[in-house]
Amino acid sequence: MITTNSTAKPLFLLGYICSLLSFGHYCYPQKTCPNCGSIEVPYPLSTNPNCGDPNYRLRCDPQSQKLYFDTLNGSSYLVLRIMASFQRMVVQPSPWVSGTCVTQDMLVSEGLRLNQTLPFNVTTSNTIFLFNCSPRLFVSPLNCTPSSLCHSFLESSGHVNKNRSLQCSSSLNPCCTFIAGGMPSAYKIRLHSSGCKAFRSILNLDPERPVSQWEEGLEIQWASPLEPICKTQLDCSGASKCLPAGTNSLFRCLCNKGYHWDHGHVMGVVILRKSTHATQAKLARAREDMLKSSNVGKTARMFQLKDIKKATNSFSKDRFLGSGGFGEVYKGELQDGTVVAIKLAKVVLQKKWQEGDIYSS
Ligand SMILES: *[C@@H]1O[C@H](CO)[C@@H](O)[C@H](O)[C@H]1NC(C)=O
Ligand SMILES: *[C@@H]1O[C@H](CO)[C@@H](O)[C@H](O)[C@H]1NC(C)=O
Ligand SMILES: *[C@@H]1O[C@H](CO)[C@@H](O)[C@H](O)[C@H]1NC(C)=O
Ligand SMILES: *[C@@H]1O[C@H](CO)[C@@H](O)[C@H](O)[C@H]1NC(C)=O
Repeated sequence: MITTNSTAKPLFLLGYICSLLSFGHYCYPQKTCPNCGSIEVPYPLSTNPNCGDPNYRLRCDPQSQKLYFDTLNGSSYLVLRIMASFQRMVVQPSPWVSGTCVTQDMLVSEGLRLNQTLPFNVTTSNTIFLFNCSPRLFVSPLNCTPSSLCHSFLESSGHVNKNRSLQCSSSLNPCCTFIAGGMPSAYKIRLHSSGCKAFRSILNLDPERPVSQWEEGLEIQWASPLEPICKTQLDCSGASKCLPAGTNSLFRCLCNKGYHWDHGHVMGVVILRKSTHATQAKLARAREDMLKSSNVGKTARMFQLKDIKKATNSFSKDRFLGSGGFGEVYKGELQDGTVVAIKLAKVVLQKKWQEGDIYSS
């Protein structure tokens, strides 16, 4: 069904994407975990042994209904959001120890350490600032110079108070900056009493943007899950059978012939632009066409341009998928984790962005 927002301004259809979507027959995971508070816990993430994939464990705190990612040596990180189709989530760096430039995970586990036998690692989207470091860091490969971006963060982000900021960086105890990910940093961000004593992480840091807009958060990615583990056929969806898989005597819901295992969903997005009343009839027709061609069986939704900008990181280059006679296509991720192909129609490219509504199917 297409939902029409009655207060929406008249819209003009510019085009839409279908070719990027493949409408195969998929066999989907059966047991997705219930929400934790307001956060959805998509497959394969697992908050209890009866749902998700047990290798992808998170903890839903029963009291606060908040979701935590537990790491080695007893540290826990609050999960801020989950981008299911990108297989990534953002966690909050550890809180400060009051009145100091030390983070709690420094005292508990000497920084963040992931279990390397589990399918999680730290992504290269993170720029890490290390604070309150030993003078020997001056000779490290990290950027601990006065022009290091960690100084901008301390001075202008509004996230570190003056007192703490003075402890976080001084002529003797520098702060340093590095991009995470890649070996061997993909599994840990190391803090130590003789190294650095606190860290913060910025997502997709763009030095051109105002420091106050840098987004704090540590992005973790997970490897693609295998088919769900099962004990009996009752654990599997209709299009799959509970069969022995691999050599470790585990049973998994293996898809029937003609079906593909798929744990994520991709959908297309149509871009509409504000226009005059004269195009209203055209729009109505376009909506009807979309409804008829809606072979995905998904609910069409309206989006604000600002949400689409957010989904594509303002149409950044690293989201660019390709271009053609129709315009440019970007990969985007909606707030609920759905991956979308977003088409920037030619008319829009020529005219510059206008605030308007966006449609998806
Ligand atoms: C973490 O735990 C392991 C084993 O329990 C221990 O060997 C190691 O020293 C601990 N590391 C830290 C930083 O506490
Ligand atoms: C790492 O994860 C594996 C698999 O779940 C588990 O068996 C092992 O005990 C974990 N290691 C530590 C140090 O917790
Ligand atoms: C900052 O530190 C000074 C001395 O260390 C202290 O007197 C003052 O109350 C602190 N201010 C804040 C806001 O914590
Ligand atoms: C991190 O995980 C991703 C997804 O599984 C994988 O492609 C990548 O190689 C891993 N990186 C490291 C350094 O292990």
